[in-house]
This record gives sequence, structure tokens and C-alpha cells, in this order.
Amino acid sequence: MNFCSQQYQAHSIKAHFCDFAFLRNLLAFLSLMVVVWVISAFIFSAPSFAGNGRDKSIIPRDKTNPLSNLWSGYYYSTKDIQALQKNRAENPGFKYVTEGAQLWEQKTGTTQKSCAKCHGKPSVSMDEAGARYPQYYAPLKRLINLEQRINLCRKTYQGAKSFEYESKELLSLTAFVRSQARARPVRVKIDGFAKPFFEKGKAFYYQRRGQLDMSCANCHENNYGKQLRSTVLSQGQANGFPSYRVAWQKIGSLHRRFQGCNKLVRAKPYAYGAEYYVNLELYLYWRGTGLEVETPGVRD
Ligand code: HEC
Ligand code: HEC
Repeated sequence: MNFCSQQYQAHSIKAHFCDFAFLRNLLAFLSLMVVVWVISAFIFSAPSFAGNGRDKSIIPRDKTNPLSNLWSGYYYSTKDIQALQKNRAENPGFKYVTEGAQLWEQKTGTTQKSCAKCHGKPSVSMDEAGARYPQYYAPLKRLINLEQRINLCRKTYQGAKSFEYESKELLSLTAFVRSQARARPVRVKIDGFAKPFFEKGKAFYYQRRGQLDMSCANCHENNYGKQLRSTVLSQGQANGFPSYRVAWQKIGSLHRRFQGCNKLVRAKPYAYGAEYYVNLELYLYWRGTGLEVETPGVRD
């Protein structure tokens, strides 16, 4: 028998419920929607890393990562340097990003095509490329990094000369493209064709070298957080590059930093863009999986 029939409505307490039946159902429906929303947000949220690595560490998801907590180099910087990086108007790296934006629009080469002509809005077309380079490039059967990808487009699609590595133009365009992925978590591909190159990068990382006979790991894995002369050692993460360095008085590539670290232990540095360095770059980005892209970072 219908619960809300007329005879009930007149007298019983249940009648009150009947009056509110519609409201009750609505309420039940709404709460169900909230539950569904919460559950789906939980399941579908892009990698739910707990921190950002700047002021809260990230626990790497991949248990083969030798680091138990990931920290961006930002975390180990002085308060002054952090303030410079954070403030877009004062971050000296953004001057290069702005120049990169101009180059993006410039028609050049035999085809007189701009990057924008093919790629359109950079915030859409380049929103995640900066978070997943270096990557395997089949025609060359090896990895290419972002600088090399940009130069490939210069040569093959614009009919223009490659920019020299570490030139202001290449640094600016790289910083511009990578900055489109700012705040996105680093996520590089290390399986499939990329695997052997990843393994080479890893071997390079742990190899002792130079007169001091030290590996990258000796400083950045075993001693981060400790003082080395006047600086605090970081985990040597790649997520802020190209970065502006006060010591350089300009922006510089990750490979320039590699050369500097090689020289620190009095080892022979490799050339910019060398395959050794690109493999190392992939390995380093993988170690920082989940850290947010911070390009242009600022360091002292
Ligand atoms: C003798 C110690 C030492 C060794 C060995 C060393 N580095 Fe460094 N590295 C430093 C110092 C000092 C800095 C500047 C402060 C910092 O970020 O640790 C630095 C900075 C870096 C940075 C910049 C981090 C940032 O957030 O800006 C990267 C990347 C890096 N190192 C990678 C490497 C790699 C790769 C190797 C191995 C080829 C290596 N380092 C070997 C001392 C070392
Ligand atoms: C004539 C069209 C054309 C022009 C001009 C061009 N590109 Fe490209 N670009 C492409 C195509 C097509 C691809 C796809 C990949 C391939 O070639 O394998 C690509 C790929 C890329 C990628 C990799 C994107 C990804 O998601 O992996 C980057 C970064 C890039 N271009 C940057 C640039 C920049 C910077 C310029 C200007 C200096 C430029 N491109 C000029 C056509 C162009």
C-alpha cells in the first residue's frame, strides 16, 4: 500500500515525511552526486603527487627511484633566490621567455614559416612537451632533447640554420617552450626504445670520474642537504632548466650545468648536446618524476 496515501497524511508522523518526500529525494540525489564527484575526482585526478617539491617533498611513485623524497633545487636555494624565481616580474629568466615568444612568431628560413604558423597557440600545442623531453626519436634512432627538437623544426620545417647550442636564441626558445609546461609534473618515457638510453644515462650518473673520482650520486644522492663550500647541495634535479644563474649572469642549459659539475671533480666535460648528456638528461628527469616544471628556475 502506498506509504503516502491520504489517510496517513492527516494524522501520523509519517505524514510529515510524506510532505517532504520530494525534498528528501532531492537531498538523497544531491548527496549521491557529491559522493560520485568525490570518488571520480579521486580516481581520475592526474597523478596525485602529494607535494610540488618546492616546499613539500614528493614521494616517488616508482619504487625503483633511489630517492625516497624528491625536492626541487628551489627548496635548497636561499630565500632571496626563491623570491626572485617566484615573482614573475622579477625573475630574470622571463626576459628570455619573452624573447622566445618573439622568435616563436618570427617568419624565417626558406619557407618563411614561423613556429606559430604550424603549432598555433603555444599554451595549447606545447602545454606538456616540456614535461616529457628528452624522448626517443625514431628517424635518428636515439633520444633528442628539447633543444634538438627545436633545431630539427628549424632545419626540416623552416629551412633555416640550426641555432647554436647555448646561443641566446636557442636558450630563449627552449625556455619559452618549456615554460608552457610550468607547474606540470615531469613525466618522461623510459620504456620501449628509450630503455637502452635510459640505462646508459643511469650508468653515467653512477660512474666515478675526474681527479676527485666522484660520481653524480656522491654529491646529489648521498649528500644533498649538506654544505659544500658556500652552497647547500641539492638533489641535482633538472626541472628548472634552462635556469637563470646569478653566477652566469644569464640563463643556461642543463648541459652547461653538467659541464660545470664535471669540472668540479676535474673531469673532462662533454660537448653541449653530446649523446652522453642527452641520455643523462633523460635519467635525471626520470629521477624527478612528479616534480613540477619550474622553467625558468633561478639559482645562485
Ligand atoms: C662535488 C660535488 C658534485 C658532483 C660530483 C656533481 N655535482 Fe651537480 N652540483 C654541485 C653543486 C655544488 C651544485 C649547485 C648547488 C646544487 O644545486 O646542488 C650542483 C648543481 C647541479 C644541478 C642543478 C640543480 C638545480 O636545481 O639547479 C644539476 C642538474 C646537477 N648538479 C647535476 C649533476 C650531475 C648530473 C652530476 C654528475 C655528472 C653532478 N651534478 C655531479 C655539485 C656536484
Ligand atoms: C612547417 C611546420 C612546422 C614549423 C614551422 C615548426 N614546426 Fe615544430 N613540429 C612540426 C611537426 C609536424 C612536428 C611533429 C613531429 C615530427 O616532425 O616528428 C613538430 C614538433 C615540434 C615539437 C615537439 C612537440 C611534441 O609534442 O613532442 C616542438 C617542441 C616543436 N615542434 C617546436 C617548434 C619550434 C620552437 C618551431 C620554431 C622554431 C617549430 N617547431 C617550427 C612542424 C613544424
